[in-house]
Amino acid sequence: MVRLDPDKLPRHVAIIMDGNGRWAKARLLNRVLGHEEGANSVREVVRCCMELAIPFLTLYAFSKENWKRPAGEIRALWELLRRFIQSELPELVAREIRVIHLGDTEGIPHEVLQELQTAVDATAAFDRLTVGLAINYGGRQEIARAARLFAMDVLNGKRQSADLTPQLLSRYLFTGEFPEVDLLIRTGGERRVSNFLLWQLAYTELYFTNVLWPDFREPQFLEALTDYQQRERRFGRTGEQVRAETQPAKLVDERTVEPLENTGFTH
Ligand code: FPP
Repeated sequence: MVRLDPDKLPRHVAIIMDGNGRWAKARLLNRVLGHEEGANSVREVVRCCMELAIPFLTLYAFSKENWKRPAGEIRALWELLRRFIQSELPELVAREIRVIHLGDTEGIPHEVLQELQTAVDATAAFDRLTVGLAINYGGRQEIARAARLFAMDVLNGKRQSADLTPQLLSRYLFTGEFPEVDLLIRTGGERRVSNFLLWQLAYTELYFTNVLWPDFREPQFLEALTDYQQRERRFGRTGEQVRAETQPAKLVDERTVEPLENTGFTH
């Protein structure tokens, strides 16, 4: 039986949901059916986060690199995302789950963007669980965009170039209001971060598993959390310093979350 310490749960879990295609191929199914089954894993992990009171979950649903896939698979992925967001919305509202979009809106098919925006707007007041959907997202693109937004604020006289610190730049990212990512999970056996949350992963614990995303359900999620709880998070200090402390480790660049004003983005 899994025993989790409720005081040592991550506040923010991010997931690279890999292995849908292989899951389908192993069953002689179309890859798209792997993505469909992957959506059931999404539902289950969201439910687990609610039950465990993990307040932030970020999911890599469509990367900038996914545009290189065959056109038929891209179409099917967009249709799946559109249907998923539309069909889950009543449940999201009932459970007071907030949806935030991470990524560029340009390029997302109109019907998908419409459902996404509807979900973002309809759930904007909730905070029991915030689910960040990384759609049309790239980590380098996000950092470049943050730099651009900051430069615009300098040009507009709202900021001075000397104001720029890591803490301030963090607030121009799509995850501006999110806490640090405590745990990154990547399923499907690869051990890389693939342009996901590059800035945000600075102090994150990384967990890689060979389990394919459609097979990643409650037991596998609890196993990842158990592994996480065995890590010693030092944030640059020595193990002795950390163990001497009674308080949980504080993040080096922990920031007070205060939304930016008038940056021109709504995420
Ligand atoms: C990677 O598996 C997965 C994706 C590119 C898409 C992830 C999308 C889902 C899980 C669909 C549901 C998501 C939401 C938010 C409803 P892959 O196709 O690269 O697998 P492979 O490496 O085995 O080919």
